[in-house]
Amino acid sequence: GTQYENILVSRPEPNVVLVTLNRPKALNALNSALFKELNKALAEADQDDSVGAMVLTGSEKAFAAGADIKEMKDKTYSDVYKNKFLENWSEIANLRKPVIAAVSGFALGGGCELALMCDIILASPTAKFGQPEINLGVIPGGGGSQRLAHTIGKSKTMELVLTGRNINAEEAERWGIVSRVVGEGEGQVVKEALSVAKLIASKSQIAVQAGKEVVNAAYELSLEEGLRFERRIFHGLFATNDQKEGMAAFAEKRKPNFTHS
Ligand code: CAA
Repeated sequence: GTQYENILVSRPEPNVVLVTLNRPKALNALNSALFKELNKALAEADQDDSVGAMVLTGSEKAFAAGADIKEMKDKTYSDVYKNKFLENWSEIANLRKPVIAAVSGFALGGGCELALMCDIILASPTAKFGQPEINLGVIPGGGGSQRLAHTIGKSKTMELVLTGRNINAEEAERWGIVSRVVGEGEGQVVKEALSVAKLIASKSQIAVQAGKEVVNAAYELSLEEGLRFERRIFHGLFATNDQKEGMAAFAEKRKPNFTHS
């Protein structure tokens, strides 16, 4: 596979790709080189037929402490405008296959935003989420204000964005930012994320991708449009072999053998 400088890519399960952010000296600060590699690795996994789901993680100390402040600090308006600064970050949100974030330690600023672009967030008890950009004289630029507002509502989003205060894993779970806080211990959250990814990868890839597409549509469409969209996609799945196989297997009391077709 490709050699990367800022991330590690591995295949801990036959159908699951694990991407680990790996700039330990900078607490995985997200510079443009790292993001380029991350986009490339995830796009490759997305296109690889043998991959059913991806897991994204950082270190025990930091998922990611934000965009790289040292790289940003001298940029001018014309630099960031002309170069579409951070625009390529949203490539992650457009992947077809599910990405599960396994968050330990700091997920701040761009790190929090990166986690929010993933489909499921699992947190270790050490996780800390926040949007501290206000302390730098700016605001979130990687989608934090919008994705948080959709997730936790106006008042809580305003508090995070306007005060820069961090919240812990328990609060993040209560607020609905993370789906679960996983038990204590080194590597536990990654282990659990891999097992969720393995479970997802055992399903029909077409049905999984359709499921992701319709859930995401709930953030864009009215309820009536969303319900219609869901039903149409559901109807469409009756054209797949995996629907025939899944339902036949149930009727015959056996395990389905999905062929992703
Ligand atoms: N960018 C660049 N370098 C960073 C960084 C960042 N976001 N976060 C940490 N680092 C670097 C530190 O500069 C330090 O490097 P040196 O050893 O060379 O000095 C190294 O990582 C270790 O960090 P600390 O010594 O600060 O570690 P700590 O444990 O004392 O503190 C922390 C941890 C509270 C997370 C602190 O590092 C911190 O506040 N980081 C910045 C968090 C932040 O403001 N993030 C938002 C960035 S802006 C953004 O993300 C914009 C956007 O919306 C996309």
